[in-house]
Amino acid sequence: MYRQPLRFPAGFLWGTASSAHQVEGDNWRNQWWEWEQRPGAIWRGDTSGAACGWWHDCEADFDRMQALGTNAHRLSLEWSRIEPEDGHFDAAALARYRAMLIGLQRRGLVPMVTLHHFTEPQWLARRGGWRHRATPERFARFVDVVLHQLGDLCNLWCTINEPSVYAVLGYALGVWPPGVRSLPASIHVVRQLLRGHRHAVQVIHAHGTHHQVGLAHHTRIYDPATPGKRDVLVSLLYDFFANGIVLRALGGACDFIGLNYYSRDHVSFDARAPHRLFARRFIPERFARSDLGVLGEPFGEIYPAGMERALRRLWHRLRLPIYITETGLPDAHDQQRPRFLIEHLAAIHRACAAGVDVRGVFVWTLVDNFEWAEGWGQRFGLYALDRATGARRLRRSGALYAAIARANACPPPGTL
Ligand code: FCB
Repeated sequence: MYRQPLRFPAGFLWGTASSAHQVEGDNWRNQWWEWEQRPGAIWRGDTSGAACGWWHDCEADFDRMQALGTNAHRLSLEWSRIEPEDGHFDAAALARYRAMLIGLQRRGLVPMVTLHHFTEPQWLARRGGWRHRATPERFARFVDVVLHQLGDLCNLWCTINEPSVYAVLGYALGVWPPGVRSLPASIHVVRQLLRGHRHAVQVIHAHGTHHQVGLAHHTRIYDPATPGKRDVLVSLLYDFFANGIVLRALGGACDFIGLNYYSRDHVSFDARAPHRLFARRFIPERFARSDLGVLGEPFGEIYPAGMERALRRLWHRLRLPIYITETGLPDAHDQQRPRFLIEHLAAIHRACAAGVDVRGVFVWTLVDNFEWAEGWGQRFGLYALDRATGARRLRRSGALYAAIARANACPPPGTL
């Protein structure tokens, strides 16, 4: 086995990723806040509450990013703060985001801004959210205001985070807002999100050719549990709803593609589960897995080879530069995360060596944060958060990531 550090291309971005609702706190004007108040909606009755306090003080965490030696950060803008009522834009919120972006730049951190990361204003949700015909145009109007006000501070834009995850969890499985269980509704919503994406790309490009625009696509790998025909068929079906539906519709409307990669599922045919497209997803006993989540099931299998598979697939399909806009692991005790990082980075390195144009990686996430339906139960942070005091403690994996970012190189797998 080779023992040399794995060097990454010059100018590679080493970042962390976050989203507004998960870290800012007090985002009471969006649809998630309302959803969190419903009994049973969130694991153990958690709510986002004050989250990680970023609205008042993200700067202390920006200092941490700088101290780690990272050179980029992916964050999202909260639409419901910027446009709290239809057509009314809040100058104070935009000013706060200006200060955030300036704060990142001053610390040598390249910002990547996501314009929609699962949340939208309640006024929009009340009109049907992304099911409404005019929502893609409303989104484009919001994006235009953002570019006018903040376009001088950022040139890496991510229009929409994980359209398929948003549509499946909110509209097919109904475990996220608005709690709808309808496959046709979920397909309609993905299409609408992709329309919103295409509008946003046009708006952003109209603000200057230096702007680079992409979308963050969650690639989950679905492998058939056996080579049997029925297992293969249901795994292809799952792959279509999670991946194919988005990738088919992207066309040429991107400058780059963002890859969010976490895990893989094994899929087998199950005649008793029409509501789950006749399939059962599971992780066979012999495979490594993350911490458990809300249903008492692991968040996912730890499957580094999937990173390389996902990168190669995106590259062959789209031939666009790729940023890994998220990757990470819920692991409260940090037992597996150091190895997870090294093995996934090695997979990225292999893809680069095979000619895939990977420009950077954003680890999910800097500090433990509000994990949607999992509440505060899943801990993805390079820093552990003590919610009672707000104190942050650097995990071993955080120190490792810092060393990697500073060296622009990763220890070879098997080092730990
Ligand atoms: C992704 C989401 C992100 C975070 C991670 C764990 O699907 O984009 O907000 O919750 O999962």
